[in-house]
Amino acid sequence: MFISESLSVNENGHLAIASADVVDLAKKYGTPLYIMDEDRISGICREYVDAMRKCCGENFMVHYASKAFCTKYIYKIIDIDGMGADVVSGGELFTAISAGFPAGKVSFHGNNKTSDEIEYALSVGVREFIVDNREELHLINRIAKEKETVANISFRIKPGVDAHTHDFIKTGQIDSKFGVALENNEAFDMISEALELSNVKLVGLHCHIGSQIFESEPFAEAARVMIGFIAKIKNELGVKICELNLGGGFGIRYTENDDPKNIFETVKNFTDVVKSECRKNNIDFPFLSIEPGRSVVAESGITVYTVGSVKEIRDIRTYVSIDGGMTDNPRYALYGAEYTVLLPERPLDKKTETVTVAGRNCESGDLIGVDLKLPKVKAGELLAVLTTGAYNYSMASNYNRVPRPPVVMVSKGKDKLIVRRETYEDLIKNDLV
Ligand SMILES: Cc1ncc(COP(=O)(O)O)c(C=O)c1O
Repeated sequence: MFISESLSVNENGHLAIASADVVDLAKKYGTPLYIMDEDRISGICREYVDAMRKCCGENFMVHYASKAFCTKYIYKIIDIDGMGADVVSGGELFTAISAGFPAGKVSFHGNNKTSDEIEYALSVGVREFIVDNREELHLINRIAKEKETVANISFRIKPGVDAHTHDFIKTGQIDSKFGVALENNEAFDMISEALELSNVKLVGLHCHIGSQIFESEPFAEAARVMIGFIAKIKNELGVKICELNLGGGFGIRYTENDDPKNIFETVKNFTDVVKSECRKNNIDFPFLSIEPGRSVVAESGITVYTVGSVKEIRDIRTYVSIDGGMTDNPRYALYGAEYTVLLPERPLDKKTETVTVAGRNCESGDLIGVDLKLPKVKAGELLAVLTTGAYNYSMASNYNRVPRPPVVMVSKGKDKLIVRRETYEDLIKNDLV
């Protein structure tokens, strides 16, 4: 049976996360409920930092990709040993700042930053902007000029690498809405243009080829392409690019079919390529950054629901309906994401049935998964979906005016409510008349 490192079965035969009884937590906080293992998250952060240190000396930075899971508390967990964060909106930046996270360790992403966001990011002093396009380059330069400051920028480059993952989470190919391309000289031309501007300072290059990628070759290929481009800029423009950010995207385990590499192996694979390509191209090893999101938080989280009905349609399928769905986990609806499910009250019972777990929202595509294996389940039982720490809470919505579930962090068996359950009052608080 696949069960993640955060999970175990306790003396009551119940599912436990970070040694806390999941059934007790569901009683205490109600369902649906997100539960996360805090020590696992900080352990993974530490593993990334240690792996980068072993491979790069002190010449590196690990940025947590906030989009995976963004609440004030996550910034307190990841604020260790020089770790930074990437944000893609004023809202994520505001959350980080409100948590006391230093703006000087935040890089600002996004393919369509607004003037307000740029002004806000400059006023708090973010580390850098990752520039996506020409209009944005000039907008940042103009706003920085108005504010009599100089903005550090990196360019988001599409390295032309095809990562083997779902089309909706591939971002390294020329036909992508993110970044500027190498193939048609767009990136080179824009860098030349940036060098002429008075209020931006080009510090680095960035790429991110996609998400949930297991093979090392696409990362290696991206590293080769990016170092080659840094060498071209040096040779043809006489400009030294000091920083390279290779993005995130490292695959994790949602089901027993997923087989991710360990963090050190992953990091060593691409840093070895960066080293050898730097030697080949006669350039210095750059300050190297990565931006893992999913792999930092996904496996630390589960979502617990209560089963409301079990609808057996003879010879067709059995729908197990839960008290949440696409409003707290839209990933099946978005890209047919696969999950492992189990019953927290009896996690070791034999999975004899094949069922479809359906949400409570008014969409036929509101499913958690199709043809999932479970023991025979009845209304009123708890159901846990594993590996929901990333892109679940952060993608949650109020469709059908369903309040968002609370988030509980567990550390060494002790639970802490870090986000409260939304109320009906929360749902109408912006309705003016
Ligand atoms: C620019 C950038 N960096 C990092 C990430 C994090 O990717 P992951 O959560 O797969 O590690 C993303 C995800 O979309 C991204 O767009």
